[in-house]
Amino acid sequence: MSRWIGTANHGFASYAMEELRRLFTDIKFQQLSSGEVFSFEVPGDREQVFTDIARNEPIFLRHLQPVDRTMPITGDTDDLQELTDIVRHARKVFEGKRTAVHLRRVENSPFSYSAADTKAIVDAVLTEIDSESSLQQPEQILSLYASKDSLLIGWGTPRELLSDWPGGAVRFQREESQVSRAKFKLLEAERTFGLNLAHYSHALDIGAAPGGWTSLLLERGLQVTAIDPAELHPSLISNRRLTYLKKNASEVKFSPDSFDLLVCDMSWSPMQMCKLVLDLSDALASGGYAIITVKLMHRKPLQTIRDVMQKLQEVFEIRKAKQLFHNRDEITLLLEKR
Ligand SMILES: C[S@@+](CC[C@H](N)C(=O)[O-])C[C@H]1O[C@@H](n2cnc3c(N)ncnc32)[C@H](O)[C@@H]1O
Repeated sequence: MSRWIGTANHGFASYAMEELRRLFTDIKFQQLSSGEVFSFEVPGDREQVFTDIARNEPIFLRHLQPVDRTMPITGDTDDLQELTDIVRHARKVFEGKRTAVHLRRVENSPFSYSAADTKAIVDAVLTEIDSESSLQQPEQILSLYASKDSLLIGWGTPRELLSDWPGGAVRFQREESQVSRAKFKLLEAERTFGLNLAHYSHALDIGAAPGGWTSLLLERGLQVTAIDPAELHPSLISNRRLTYLKKNASEVKFSPDSFDLLVCDMSWSPMQMCKLVLDLSDALASGGYAIITVKLMHRKPLQTIRDVMQKLQEVFEIRKAKQLFHNRDEITLLLEKR
């Protein structure tokens, strides 16, 4: 038996739970923070659960934390004393590794220390046990969740926890000249899917305006063809690596294999989007990748996603399907052209 904390985007926890229920028949849930964070118990041990989840990663599960230790919160310095004792006893987990400390809390948790204070105290113990405290590229993460009565403590690699950000809440710095917030979605997809967009040379951006995704692709050095009947941001127009077709995507045609990357963020009916992408898919070379967002328009997202994936599989292998932190009512797919 093992206990876990699962986190989804706000309002999507029930879908993450549904996916987990399909993975583990004997599972019990408890809500920690409405619509977003929940705990669950399953019969398998931590290694078994990590393996099962890695094999069949739920789309709506943004972050996973094992509950390796539980300590009651007293609300005074005893809490830090006990936490540091637990870390010392778990020395083998952290020794010789770069370790990040993440703290999340429910509203009104009696755990009275901020993330920065907790981190400072735990960091001193990590140094003592030959671990290197580091928020950047950690090899091990100590994940703490302060609930209403107890501190739920667990650890794992960023891969096991599905993210190297607390609760999977990826933050990017907003730039002065940023064309749209949508840029964060592509940045997050690049990180989460382990891609390097600079490895591609010719991108087709369908539904490009105002141009957040196009601007990132241009920054990465690609030649970009952007299609949208709406206006692209004026700051992009003069870029010599940009071709802008101010048209509906259903009106354009390209020679086969013109692109090695196709991106599409149309916020449109999923099936219409599928048709447009499939109609233009000849333009993507075999082995090329596509990154597309799928709008979840009605009440059955899991069914919508299944239908969309089935359709796209006519031409693509589905490499990853994930609701990213920056996705609102949508998910992001990573596809490889056959
Ligand atoms: C969410 S916005 C895209 C944001 C963009 N990815 C960015 O980073 O700024 C969706 C865009 O899709 C465009 N769009 C919708 N249907 C389209 C179609 N059939 N062909 C081309 N563009 C379309 C809309 O005009 C709109 O500008």
